[in-house]
This record gives sequence, structure tokens and C-alpha cells, in this order.
Amino acid sequence: MKKIVVTVGCRPDCIKMMPVIKELKKRRDAETVILSTGQHRQMLDSVFATFGERPDYDLGIMTENQDLFDITANILRSVKAVLTEISPDIVLVHGDTTSAYVVSLACFYLNIPVGHVEAGLRTGNMRSPFPEEFNRQSIGLTARYHFAPTAHAARTLISEGKSTDRVYVTGNTVIDAMRCTVMSDYTHAELEWARGSRLLLITAHRRENIGDPMRGILRAVRRAVEERGDVKVVYPVHMNPDVRKTASEELGGCDRIHLIDPLDVVGCHNFEAHSYLCLTDSGGLQEECPSYGVPVLVARDTTERPEGVEAGTLRLVGTAEASVYSALCKLLDDRTEYEKMARACNPYGDGHAAERIADILLDGKYTPWNG
Ligand code: UD1
Ligand code: UDP
Repeated sequence: MKKIVVTVGCRPDCIKMMPVIKELKKRRDAETVILSTGQHRQMLDSVFATFGERPDYDLGIMTENQDLFDITANILRSVKAVLTEISPDIVLVHGDTTSAYVVSLACFYLNIPVGHVEAGLRTGNMRSPFPEEFNRQSIGLTARYHFAPTAHAARTLISEGKSTDRVYVTGNTVIDAMRCTVMSDYTHAELEWARGSRLLLITAHRRENIGDPMRGILRAVRRAVEERGDVKVVYPVHMNPDVRKTASEELGGCDRIHLIDPLDVVGCHNFEAHSYLCLTDSGGLQEECPSYGVPVLVARDTTERPEGVEAGTLRLVGTAEASVYSALCKLLDDRTEYEKMARACNPYGDGHAAERIADILLDGKYTPWNG
């Protein structure tokens, strides 16, 4: 029997770890322990409620307007005792959040092996996204297992010198999650409101975008929408108070733009599926929207997800008002340009990533990537 701790802390890693948790709980030779840092609160609780799970341990560290020092110090201080009490055989962390980084650091100090789910994503620029690029590279330094979502990510890990017998291509677990969230009969009052219009779905929350970059993105949206009567915007606004303030200052008072509270994950995936176009600085939406053939304008200067750019469904548009506005206008006004991007593609796997991860951890059935 292997004791496996699955770490979550924020909305995206919790969504993407849920399939792993569900799969491990089915296996007789695994004891699964869910450790939440509680870096997020309401947004994390919503994911747990949707999937009918609860953390076994919750460090509950979130404070309003927490900075990176708060998150790092509060997790590091409280996780030692919990990991020591659980005494796991392995700890899984996901992606690039500070929760994942700090728990992997604690495991390194305690000599506990770490499995990194969604390993090998890189921009190569430590400031973009900040601090996520640092977090994921740091986790990669100590991880025992690197679960890469794509061959591209695996190649990146090997090129950094990771040992080939530790790198596995599993697919991205978000595709597993999407198998149970997307519904043909999904309804929501905001989707009814947008019916008959072209729906532009927006999300924006990146730390490095807060302030002028976010204002640039949102001003571009307002201009593009005010000029076109058949476009409506739904923007589920992240709980970060700085993001909420900027969103309401820049987009408030426009009757074809609705700012709403964060959607639960079922809602978000179904809104994506009903959208004409998505504008986002989120990592997760870059992986999800291509499956629905929904073009994504990525309001960032870099992406660690080149697969979607290569496939043609993602386009990097920066954060300057002029560049975001021009990209929006092009897709809203030029049908040929739109059709070029609106092609369903899914470079992120077959929806069985969690099974592979469980196989690797429990019986080594699945072999490492061999290029
Ligand atoms: C974090 C991750 C980021 C990830 C994002 C997903 C880090 C450093 N950043 O960024 O990689 O893309 O989550 O959303 O790990 N808040 C609430 N309730 C919640 C969640 C957040 O009130 O449920 C507010 C709090 O005031 C908090 C602020 O939002 O201080 C920011 O949250 P934080 O976790 O620090 O950063 P994110 O921008 O969410
Ligand atoms: N998401 C959600 N509700 C929302 C916005 C996003 O459930 O209102 C989901 C989305 O489908 C994706 C994940 O949250 O699975 C992405 O999280 P986020 O954008 O917060 O973080 P990132 O992916 O950028 O790290």
C-alpha cells in the first residue's frame, strides 16, 4: 500500500488534480490523502463542492491581498508538521503555483519524493509569468517523477538534463476533468442573456498584468464591444480585490458587458463551449478552449503552451490596448481570419492522463518517454 499525498492550493491545480484524486481512490493499493494549502478559499471550495471531495488536511493560509512572502512563509511554516504526521511515500504537486513550489521545497527538506503533474511547461522568462516560471522550474529541480502533458513538454525536460527514466508523457489531466463537466443541455441565465449575440468570454488575473496591462486589455474590450452591437461579454471576475476593482472601473456601466462572480468549473467549461471567442491571460483556458474550436486571444507576451499556437487556435496578443483591440477587431470582423482559428484541436491528451499517473506510481506499468 502506497500513501500518496495529493496537494492542491488554488482553483486550477485543484481542478486538474481532481481526476488524479478520483483515480487513486479507485486503486486498492493506494491510500490517498488530500492536502490543501488553502491558498485560495471560495474558489477552491467551489471545486471541492463540484467534485464532491474534501481535503483531509487544510492549512487554510489565505489572507486578503496576500503577497508572495505571506503565501510562501505561511505554507512552509505549517506544512512540515502535517507532512511529518502523514509520512507519505510520495507527494504530488501540480503545475506552477506557489503552493506547489513550497510543498515541493518542504518535501525536499524532508526527503520525501515528489511527483510533478503538468511538468515541463516553460516560457524561459522568469518574469513572465511571475512567479510561476520560477515555481515550475524549481519544482522540476527536485521532482522524482515528471508527468509531462505533451511530448513538447517532455522534450523540454530532457533538454534541461532530467533523467529520461523520470519523464513520462501522460496527457493533461484537465482533459480528463472535461469529460465530466461539459453538458449538451447546460443552461445559465447569462448564456440566455447572450443568446443571439456573439459571446466574448474574458478572464484576466495574472499578477504581472494587474495595473496598467489589465487596464489596456479591458479598454480594448470596451472599445471593440461598444462599436459592435451584436457582441456581448461575460467576464467572471477573479476574487482578487485588485482585479475586481480594475474590472469594474474599466468595464462598469456598459450594458453589453456583464461582470459576474467566478463560475464553478462546470459553468466555466460550458461557457467556453458556447463562446464565439475567448480573451484571457489564464493558462487553463488556453488548454480548454481549443477543444471546443473556440479561438483564444492570449493577453500576454509569452506562453508556455505553444501547442495551441502551433495548431492555430491560440494567438498571443500582448496587453497593450492597441494590440489587443486590433486582434479583437480582426477576429470579430474578418470571417476568414476567424475560421482559420476556429478549428477544434486538442494537443493535450485523450482524457486518460490520471490513469497513467496512477499506473506509473503504483505498478510502473507505463514506461518513461523515449522520444
Ligand atoms: C494564484 C497563482 C496563479 C494561478 C491563480 C489561479 C501563485 C503565486 N499564483 O494566483 O499561478 O494562476 O492562482 O487563479 O500561486 N482570493 C479570494 N478568494 C479566493 C481566491 C483568491 O478572496 O478563493 C483573493 C485574495 O484576496 C488573494 C487574492 O485573491 O489575496 C490573490 O490570490 P493569490 O492566490 O495570492 O493569487 P492569484 O492571483 O489567485
Ligand atoms: N475557471 C472556473 N471559473 C471561472 C474561471 C476559470 O472554474 O470563473 C476554471 C477554468 O475552466 C480553468 C481554471 O479555472 O480550468 C483556470 O484557472 P485560472 O484561470 O484561475 O488559473 P490559471 O489556469 O491561469 O493558472
